[in-house]
Amino acid sequence: LMSAVAAAALMTAATGAQAACDDGEIVIKFSHVTNSDKHPKGLAASLLMERVNEEMNGKACMEVFPNSTLYNDDQVLEAMLNGDVQLAAPSLSKFEQFTKQFRIFDLPFMFKNIAAVDAFQTSETGVAMKESMTRRGLLGLQFWHNGMKQMSANKPLVLPTDAAGLKFRVQPSDVIKAQMEAIGVSPQPMAFSEVYGALQTGVVDGQENTWSNIYGQKFFEVQDGTTETNHGIIDYMVVTSTDWWDSLPEDVRTQLATILEEVTVERNAAVGQVDADARQAILDTGATIVELNAEQRQAWVDAMKPVWEQFRDDVGQENIDAAQEFNA
Ligand code: LMR
Repeated sequence: LMSAVAAAALMTAATGAQAACDDGEIVIKFSHVTNSDKHPKGLAASLLMERVNEEMNGKACMEVFPNSTLYNDDQVLEAMLNGDVQLAAPSLSKFEQFTKQFRIFDLPFMFKNIAAVDAFQTSETGVAMKESMTRRGLLGLQFWHNGMKQMSANKPLVLPTDAAGLKFRVQPSDVIKAQMEAIGVSPQPMAFSEVYGALQTGVVDGQENTWSNIYGQKFFEVQDGTTETNHGIIDYMVVTSTDWWDSLPEDVRTQLATILEEVTVERNAAVGQVDADARQAILDTGATIVELNAEQRQAWVDAMKPVWEQFRDDVGQENIDAAQEFNA
């Protein structure tokens, strides 16, 4: 007969992420929306869970719920404020209801690459952004990187005019909506977990996302091409509730913060490779990737960049200037 411990281990292997928590351990539920093994966020969350469960055994226990199995991003922050989940890492575009400061990250062609995003986030302004929502009960702990956004559609896109008249799924962000409207696209906000079905059934014609999301969610299977525009970024904030964070015994809070910081440094340094691997995996299926020459890419810049004007007051000229310096 199998021992109870072996049976529990088998169960854990079968269901994926769940660790069996012991009585008396502080339970930390981490809910997210991507896969857990081929994605910058999923890999970081998995490593965090592994380390917490090993190094904090007896004190704390982490359970990760990937793939929107627990909450979509439009529910997770409410759930966090209700104490139903303790950690999440929504993309920066998902904090619209809580702060307008993050709009800078959604502005098209604001950051040249993830290194520039990292430099901005570690500047005084970026660090302060993690505490911009404490009044609303949310505390940012770390920024996690993903990568640059690309455009896919049910026809290959070379110029922005090719997208005019199409419907694109967007994250719920006013900046992204304005960016899409600037190229004549009708933006349709929708949860991440619903995008594949919406593309497949033609509810929407296209979407924008990073290589790891396009690969992880198999969007390329239901699109006729992905255009390498690198027009924006997707990045995350690991977020918790101020109530829960403040309620932790100090040694637990300090150890958890230290492990999270180390995981952040390790996984943020690896996102370029995860991104490149996802792009290559898409190519290997034979799916079309449209590469733009300098003139074609400039047409996307010219069409989209005017939206900066609409949001200049929200994000602040000094922050735009700082971001541009980090691009140099
Ligand atoms: C999206 O909604 O497209 C992304 O923010 C999902 C994610 O977490 O990467």
